[in-house]
Amino acid sequence: MTAKLIDGIGLLYTGDPAGAEEIEHAAMVVEDGRVVWTGPAAEAPDADEREDAGGRCVIPGFVDSHAHLVFAGDRTPEFDARMSGQPYTAGGIRTTVAATRAAGDAELATRAAALIAEMRRQGTTTVEIKSGYGLTVEDERRSLEIASGLVDDTTYLGAHVVPAGTDADDYVRLVTGEMLAACAPYAKWVDVFCERGAFDGDQTREILQAGIKAGLQPRVHANQLTEGPGVRIAVELGAASADHCTHLSDADVDALASSGTVATLLPGAEFSTRSPYPDARRLIDAGATVAIATDCNPGSSFTSSMPFCIALAVREMRMTPLEAVRAATYGGARALRRDDVGVLRPGSRADYVVLDAPSYVHLAYRPGVPLVTRVSS
Ligand code: NIG
Ligand code: FE
Repeated sequence: MTAKLIDGIGLLYTGDPAGAEEIEHAAMVVEDGRVVWTGPAAEAPDADEREDAGGRCVIPGFVDSHAHLVFAGDRTPEFDARMSGQPYTAGGIRTTVAATRAAGDAELATRAAALIAEMRRQGTTTVEIKSGYGLTVEDERRSLEIASGLVDDTTYLGAHVVPAGTDADDYVRLVTGEMLAACAPYAKWVDVFCERGAFDGDQTREILQAGIKAGLQPRVHANQLTEGPGVRIAVELGAASADHCTHLSDADVDALASSGTVATLLPGAEFSTRSPYPDARRLIDAGATVAIATDCNPGSSFTSSMPFCIALAVREMRMTPLEAVRAATYGGARALRRDDVGVLRPGSRADYVVLDAPSYVHLAYRPGVPLVTRVSS
């Protein structure tokens, strides 16, 4: 395999908190899809090929650790109504469920692949995909089969909402029984939307424990619309991530700060539902590990753009640009318990992004501007 030297990097953000997190006037050597060397350009070793970054900033590909990409249909009227003052409720999910059930496998796969391509053009190289718009055994199973053909991190979210006309206890039995058995072969993670109008604390615990027994690892949609037990349950069960974290008690913040559970913030959801943003400062200052993800879905956050979410995190959640880019790379990788992505250090995947900017600060400083000029192949 040929080794390639990427030279002339004005600023290399490695995303490696244990090493040199930022290197000015840097270079990087990649070989066989892996990083083999990073450091000051003046010390760069020889390589077979050379690429000149022209003084631009290079960062790890973004890790979007929370996305719902297997769906059909359209929720434009719902968004339009929200922007005219209607509140967001969990019930809108059922609109997408009906459209998804009616769609063929090929349509669902094509749409999901198109969204992944859209994400990639904006610098995302790792994506997690959840099911949750099928809510029958076969529709959840095929959603996950499609997702697992596209990405490594797939999440069983049969417990997204109780389908219309179904008894909640019967549905929890299905989600923890036949549906789980059909879905587990295609999933790495199990997730529950723990929220008023979706699943309560007891149901959440029962579903996550059943998933763990089936070999899946837990993550939770927690404390999005109201303060509730989601974060506490996530921490109690050793979940990789508690996602949303918009309404937190002091005890929730302490629990996250003193656990290995990442607080994944999804500012696209607050933007698109015109809701108050999570208090990122409170979490970071308490010592919690924070990730940022898009929550890309047709209802609450139809953006595929990590740069947009970074800009929101900086402007609306008072994260510094460094904290935001760290949360979108290293943080996302922690939320998926992956060491090979979200970081550029010897041994990691050579997933890198060249920004048409001298610094990652421009991701927030120049909001809405397509700064991603190159994404490693
Ligand atoms: O993460 N919170 C639950 N699920 C999605 C919304 C899904 C929808 O409205 O379709 C979310 O925001
Ligand atoms: Fe979500």
